[in-house]
Amino acid sequence: MRVPAKVNLALNVGATDNEGYHALGTLFQAVSLFDDLVARPAEAGVFRVSFRGEGASGLPTDDTNLVVRAARLLAGTCGTGNLGAEIRVHKRIPVAGGMAGGSADAAATLVACNQLWGTSLDTGQLHAVAARLGADVPFLLHGGTAVGTGRGEKLRPVPVRGSFQWVLALSHHGLSTPAVFREFDRISPPQPTGIDSGLLAALADGDARRVGALLRNDLQRAAFNLQPELADVLAMGREAGATGALVSGSGPTIAFLAGTKAVADAISDRLVLSSRVRAVRRAHGPVPGARIVN
Ligand code: C5P
Repeated sequence: MRVPAKVNLALNVGATDNEGYHALGTLFQAVSLFDDLVARPAEAGVFRVSFRGEGASGLPTDDTNLVVRAARLLAGTCGTGNLGAEIRVHKRIPVAGGMAGGSADAAATLVACNQLWGTSLDTGQLHAVAARLGADVPFLLHGGTAVGTGRGEKLRPVPVRGSFQWVLALSHHGLSTPAVFREFDRISPPQPTGIDSGLLAALADGDARRVGALLRNDLQRAAFNLQPELADVLAMGREAGATGALVSGSGPTIAFLAGTKAVADAISDRLVLSSRVRAVRRAHGPVPGARIVN
């Protein structure tokens, strides 16, 4: 299984509901930074996960892990007590990076276990299970570029012309999504959640310059308050010629849109020199969601 990361080209944060979740209007794009996952059969009721690669040593592997919860929830939904799985994940998506790495692994787990167990849930049924695991999990099943509403789980694919080049600046430290939303609530009133029609038109036209000018993330200021050095990183990439730049999701990864490959080279050449940046990754989007590969 191969599953991509995501960036949010828009992350518009509205009011909270009675469970403390925010109404979102978001524009997701799946990008070519992938986790690989293999699922093998295990004894009935055994759901185990192990990780290697990027950030693997810091991840919990007990029942709180989203991969274990995804496998267990799928088995429970299918209603037979004889299912189990041993899941291995090779991580490249940064942990706690605002690129939905945990949600991506959960989405991949659902597709992998559905295949392994022959449970034959269709796309709509998998989507319903995914939505119970987290707001970003349904999008990582589908991939591409899509508007997400509700908590982010109600998806509408949108047309995109061509491919967009991204440069991703990874941070030394993670950020907790709930902490970033709490900081947003402290410093900002709820914002209008409608997605800018100009942004959708620019995507449909494949116009990176217009897309770059219209990127919006309402969580950005909250992320900057929690990691002030991120503002410098963002300024660095802009100076190097980025067409657009924003914090990815709840951060701390910063995503730079590059109009050409030469500009992407210039941005990454600049960022690798900065002590504030742990690593730089190149990616393009959109790409498909969780899928079976050889
Ligand atoms: O859905 P997920 O578990 O990925 O969300 C992580 C956290 O992000 C939630 O516990 C909540 O604090 C915050 N969140 C939110 N509103 C959303 C989605 C997430 O407040 N629509």
